[in-house]
Amino acid sequence: MIDLTTHYMGIQLKNPIIVGSCSMTGNIEEIMGLEENGAGAVVLKSIFEEEILNEIGYSIQDSEMEKPGFAQLAETLKYVNQHVTQNRFSQYISFISDVKKKVGIPVFASINCISEGEWTQHVHKLEEAGADGLELNIFLSRSGLSGLNYEKSINKITKSVLQKLSIPVSIKLGNCFADQAQSISKLSKTGISGIVLFNKFNTMDIDVYNLSNTTGKILSNADDSYQSLRWIALMSGKVGCSLAGATGIHHANAVIKQVLAGADAVQLVSTLYLNGKTYIRQILDDLELWMDKKGFFSLKQAKGLSGYKDILDTVVFERIQFMKHYGRIL
Ligand SMILES: Cc1cc2nc3c(=O)[nH]c(=O)nc-3n(C[C@H](O)[C@H](O)[C@H](O)COP(=O)(O)O)c2cc1C
Repeated sequence: MIDLTTHYMGIQLKNPIIVGSCSMTGNIEEIMGLEENGAGAVVLKSIFEEEILNEIGYSIQDSEMEKPGFAQLAETLKYVNQHVTQNRFSQYISFISDVKKKVGIPVFASINCISEGEWTQHVHKLEEAGADGLELNIFLSRSGLSGLNYEKSINKITKSVLQKLSIPVSIKLGNCFADQAQSISKLSKTGISGIVLFNKFNTMDIDVYNLSNTTGKILSNADDSYQSLRWIALMSGKVGCSLAGATGIHHANAVIKQVLAGADAVQLVSTLYLNGKTYIRQILDDLELWMDKKGFFSLKQAKGLSGYKDILDTVVFERIQFMKHYGRIL
């Protein structure tokens, strides 16, 4: 019997496949289907910080206008006020407790946020509703010219959330720190339980006939997994929390590579939109087949075997790989 169990954020999962936050995980029947097909855990569709603020009757105070990033929050809050119903947060809380009654796998709530403000006073309700953990999708765009300190802002938000919860908290990060290795390592030691590498941000596109801006492809493709793979290999063994690989993980081979690089779990979304929920079962079967062929009886035996954790200087190591490949210096 092959043992696929893994520990992620201090929680035992029956296998490393987590279904990432998406529209499917915003619907109970779909989540039950994901569990039936073998998912190890799910991250629920996110609620926005602005939706929580909207429900708690948060008003935009003039005094707050000085805070960094506040103009962005004020504008998006105005948008939310006009476009969503008042009780989205209560609905989200009920949704969590309904999902928990229906499925046995761990259920992670998800909040998409941009600031450490008032909304954090209400996150305890997620824990009370039964969420096994919380994933923060911190949407700090680098597009502003104001020079927002990305790392400082993330630290403030996580600190504020961690103070209010006893369930584990993870962060889904974008691939965009200036000193990425150092920032991820520091962040992993702040008390958070997991880091997801990486988030997939919306891409921008242009309709050349209508001369209008549009959104690029929502779904990833299989080549998108290499960014995550490299960073999981670089960071595993150097962080103080679990790591999950995400974006572009479409097939069993990509899952295997993530585990070999050192991931504790992986998040899948696009492949399930493209191949259906039953594809989880296919990935698990292929993973077991590979383990059997390699003589592994437990996933833990494979974890991190091909990561960079024993390489003392990864900068030199990567330089030499580059020379080998592009300079034919063997
Ligand atoms: C239809 C759809 C809805 C999504 N909704 C959310 C969301 O609410 N919150 C979030 O953090 N990520 C959301 N995502 C991003 C996914 O969780 C994931 O990070 C991204 O799709 C990359 O993984 P993939 O390559 O496996 O698709 C969504 C993705 C898709 C395709």
